[in-house]
Amino acid sequence: EKGGYEHFMLKEIHEQPTAVKTTISPRINNGMPDLSECGLTPEMLKNYRKFFIVACGTAMHAGMVGKYVIEKLARTEVTVDIASEFRYRDPIVTSEDLVIVISQSGETADTKAALHLAHEKGAKVLAVVNVKGSSIAREADMVLYTHAGPEISVASTKAFSVQMAVMYLLAYEMAYAKGTITEEECRRLTAELQKIPEMIEKTMECEDRCKYVASKLITATSLLYIGRGLDYTLSMEGSLKLKEISYIHSESYAAGELKHGTISLVTDGMPVIGVATQSDLLEKTVSNIMEVKSRGAFTITVCKEGTEFSEGVMDEVIEVPVLEDILMPLITVIPLQLVAYYTTVLKGLNVDKPRNLAKSVTVE
Ligand code: M6R
Repeated sequence: EKGGYEHFMLKEIHEQPTAVKTTISPRINNGMPDLSECGLTPEMLKNYRKFFIVACGTAMHAGMVGKYVIEKLARTEVTVDIASEFRYRDPIVTSEDLVIVISQSGETADTKAALHLAHEKGAKVLAVVNVKGSSIAREADMVLYTHAGPEISVASTKAFSVQMAVMYLLAYEMAYAKGTITEEECRRLTAELQKIPEMIEKTMECEDRCKYVASKLITATSLLYIGRGLDYTLSMEGSLKLKEISYIHSESYAAGELKHGTISLVTDGMPVIGVATQSDLLEKTVSNIMEVKSRGAFTITVCKEGTEFSEGVMDEVIEVPVLEDILMPLITVIPLQLVAYYTTVLKGLNVDKPRNLAKSVTVE
């Protein structure tokens, strides 16, 4: 059942090219994104007053990538909320808004409560769900299923990639509907998205390197993940993945925010994982990495192939293929997942079923 892999998590990491392909292919029509299967038309996307994305954990991180991509391309404001916060903060949602809930299981209690709240306020709900026929899928007004297949490992991997993939399709369709990108640009972006499964496959070549980096982390008691923009979102996902299965404390921080408190935690040998794939922010993130390095940190950097750094700043580098910045999250997540996986394996822990956690959080 593990298809020759030692753990479900590793199997699911390797299933990502297929999962993404199966999720996007039926939603691309004649080279253009097409989400009409769920009843969502370009006209509707153009007319909603506001967009909310609500989810928990890893699904919320996919929502953060979604916010970034939608805002960048469609120039439309998106609010992202953790479901347990959204449900109690009396959000300003109206019947003119679209609330997008993202959930692998479709059974997460807080996400379900957020859906109910959105309905009470008269908003329409679009659910991005992996499990067919789940509560959230049944109760939402529109459903876009991700086609990752069953995800068994408690740590979510392939579900995250397909959730992101749906966010990109949504952003493209929205941007084209709003006229913030041309048809030509929309076709180009869609064609680039279709290459992602192959690029994920290529990114898997970093597996041995990730295993080696993991061997340097097993004695750590605390770790930082830093990044800016889309890289910050990914560093949040990397940090969650590592802590939930390896039990090593880790925190993700916006790189520019370190100076406002967190950098005082950095002592000799503390591993700091910098995610630095965004060209326009590279210099800034690198200068933050230099700051932690000069305080003794053991620096590990995830970056595009061929990125050059000054001598002695990076202790370890994990390179991923070069894509345009906006698409980088779809492959950058691979080394983050692999580092978490191998750290846990090397520590001899239960990768697929970490303590205190359930695959689906059905109670508040
Ligand atoms: O089933 P859901 O997508 O609604 O679950 C949300 C979170 O509980 C889930 O992503 C959790 O954070 C994972 N264990 C992370 O790997």
